[in-house]
Amino acid sequence: MEQATLPRPHATRRDPFPPGPRTPAIAQAINYARDPLGFLAAHQRSQGDIFTIRFPYFGKIVYVASPDLVKALFTGSPATFHAGEANATMLEPALGPNSVLTLDDQPHLRQRKLLLPPFHGERIQRYGELIVEMTRREMESWPVGEPFAMRPHTQRITLAVIMRAVFGVHDEARLIRFERLIEDFARRVGVVTSFPMLRRNLGPGSPWPRFLRSRAALDEFIYEEIRLRRAEPGHEDRDDVLSLLLEARDEDGNPMTDQELRDELVTVLGAGHETTATGLAWAVELLNRNPAVLSNLRDSLAAGTDDYLGATVKEVLRYRPVIVDVGRKLTQPATIGGYELPAGSFVLAAIAGLHYREDAFPRPYEFRPERFLEGKADNYAWIPFGGGTRRCIGAAFAEYEMRTILREFVERADLRPASPKPEKVRVRNITLAPAKNTRVVLERRLY
Ligand code: HEM
Repeated sequence: MEQATLPRPHATRRDPFPPGPRTPAIAQAINYARDPLGFLAAHQRSQGDIFTIRFPYFGKIVYVASPDLVKALFTGSPATFHAGEANATMLEPALGPNSVLTLDDQPHLRQRKLLLPPFHGERIQRYGELIVEMTRREMESWPVGEPFAMRPHTQRITLAVIMRAVFGVHDEARLIRFERLIEDFARRVGVVTSFPMLRRNLGPGSPWPRFLRSRAALDEFIYEEIRLRRAEPGHEDRDDVLSLLLEARDEDGNPMTDQELRDELVTVLGAGHETTATGLAWAVELLNRNPAVLSNLRDSLAAGTDDYLGATVKEVLRYRPVIVDVGRKLTQPATIGGYELPAGSFVLAAIAGLHYREDAFPRPYEFRPERFLEGKADNYAWIPFGGGTRRCIGAAFAEYEMRTILREFVERADLRPASPKPEKVRVRNITLAPAKNTRVVLERRLY
């Protein structure tokens, strides 16, 4: 049995799970769906470091919400704490059986090792110019003096970057076709793909067969791109992620199969563009509502330093974590926070619960980037990218991309919020987005 921390007195033989709210499961699910961030932060305060939430269909879910317990979860044996199995329930139809997100154990490690090098901190800086170019191009389409929603624009930028930097597609006609296929695919992923009992053919116009058709069309494009790239003379010298992965070899010297390449590319597409776009939409919203922070940011950039920019991005991801929880499924009984949980239990790190802990982030409801300049955040308290051997592969890329795009926004646009009311949070696929997609008005361009 995995032993994570000392036993606590509450555990009983009859019910090994930690206590939690007594409201009916359906009410807990509704409250979670309405505002997962508020839900998890409130339960961390009322229930403490570890608690059980009951959801219809999923049953009992244990949440941990202290740095110590999160550390135990993230650094526990990956053979006991399966993340792939926890993710696969909802993600496998879209990402496929070889995805680094849905695999565990040795197969996970193999994919992770192959995928990590192209996303290494230093390597990603080669995409800086491309990110700036895509941002400036998109900013040209912003209307002046009229309200518009920012999130679709940030999403077009991050998608444009992924299509070029990750897939290496540059031909305009192919980019247009690719974008349509991705948008159609993204529209079809959702409730029907997340719940196994809904994956049924109820006629050709019903959601499941529509999803299968859009997936087949996207896959056809990706396999074609892989074929074209392999046949391209000198592709070994290209620096997009697909070209790098074509050259990658595992410990036994084997290259990735086409199916593995497809699954990892779709994983990066799925994990990497909507998340970053949503983080950016929050950044704009939070800067608009905190003029003193915006002014500090402008001053620091004008003075030629980007520490404050980095701290702002970190504070955005603390204050509005795009993903509110990450899970592990126990393959064998394990003791966490004193509770001997049975095999098969789901244990989740309550990202939102951690980020609003007063002891980890004093005055947590203040949006204050300075906190990240005053000292380094605890690795197990600031966890927007999860942790351990499953930590987000694109974390450095995402932060770099957010910094680069945000700098362009701040230096080149004078934005104000379209409404005096701050944006509420809304669940969008698996992310937590601004309910109205950050409505803004561009007062004037600054170039
Ligand atoms: C603000 C943007 C992003 C956020 C908030 C985010 C968050 C996360 C989180 C919470 C996880 C799960 C970690 C865990 O289970 O402990 C994850 C995994 C992952 N992310 Fe991200 N992510 C972002 C951007 C990206 C980007 C840009 C990429 C790729 C370019 C990416 C690729 C991945 C991959 C491949 C995994 C699976 C890692 C594994 O299971 O070994 N993500 N991400």
